[in-house]
Amino acid sequence: MRAATARAYPNIALVKYWGKRDAAWNLPATGSLSLTLDVFPTTTTVEPDPTLTADVFTLDGVAAPAPALERVRRFLDLVRERAGTDTAARVRSVNTVPTGAGLASSASGFAALAVAASAAYDLDLERPGLSRLARRGSGSAARSLVDGMALWHAGTDEESFAEPVASPEVAMVVTVLEAGPKPVSSREAMTRTALTSPYYRAWVESASQSLQAALSACRDGDLDRLGRIAESNALRMHAAIEASDPPVRYLRPGSIAVFDRVEQLREEGLCAYATADAGPNVVVICPPSEAEAVRTALAPFGTTVTAGPGPGAALLAEPVG
Ligand code: PMV
Repeated sequence: MRAATARAYPNIALVKYWGKRDAAWNLPATGSLSLTLDVFPTTTTVEPDPTLTADVFTLDGVAAPAPALERVRRFLDLVRERAGTDTAARVRSVNTVPTGAGLASSASGFAALAVAASAAYDLDLERPGLSRLARRGSGSAARSLVDGMALWHAGTDEESFAEPVASPEVAMVVTVLEAGPKPVSSREAMTRTALTSPYYRAWVESASQSLQAALSACRDGDLDRLGRIAESNALRMHAAIEASDPPVRYLRPGSIAVFDRVEQLREEGLCAYATADAGPNVVVICPPSEAEAVRTALAPFGTTVTAGPGPGAALLAEPVG
């Protein structure tokens, strides 16, 4: 055993994951498609230490709150079970994405933790194995193991990992409207949608169709078609979520204003499409050549950051802090 450090980037789904086929194994109801970004990385060091009596987890230099520590501990238990050890670890993580704001901090967080912890505990895993392991921490983390465009397969535990797929040239303009924590966690809202939303079945059916259509647009290098599918898929996911009982609303008035502006940008001739995860922030899909025009147009709505395709989670030589 040794200290190991990994860095992972968040990913934004063009065809969303929303709903589980199996909660214990974090198997999704449908496959999903995302772009790993080149901004907002999480860097994590895992240091197994036989003198510790329990895991220690610091996030951005301070002791993590109990629920976050508990999730990390449960994840490390999976790693320790495979490694045949019960040695606790010191985990230090530095997150540059606003935590819990619907900007996929759990994806970069668990992807970095999966890569660092498997190296620290000497598990010999290839990318698909690391993607399957990251999936157990947070579903969307499976996709942050992949460079750029990633397809995460539904299916059994063996089959459910992410792998790279062909992609047209693409940029994403992230518009951060509110960086505070979200009102209901995606984990809880996902369960609530599946149990109570009358639109859940329709969502699952439509997401499977959207995935096939999106993959075909990717193969054809057709960003306009891919963007259209992504925007409609995001709005369908939010419709299913909003129809839950009690309802959950992640999109705020500012989010809707960005969707409206993006529609206007299309009327002005740009290829721009909006998406949003479980939070108020909106991410705009566009060709790299139009990213600066899109960013300028969205600057009045919040903090804008232009991202391109980023690398899958990987080990780093230097530890955190
Ligand atoms: O990985 P989780 O459990 O945080 O779920 C993420 C869900 C969405 O971000 C809303 C959609 C997606 O596919 O990333």
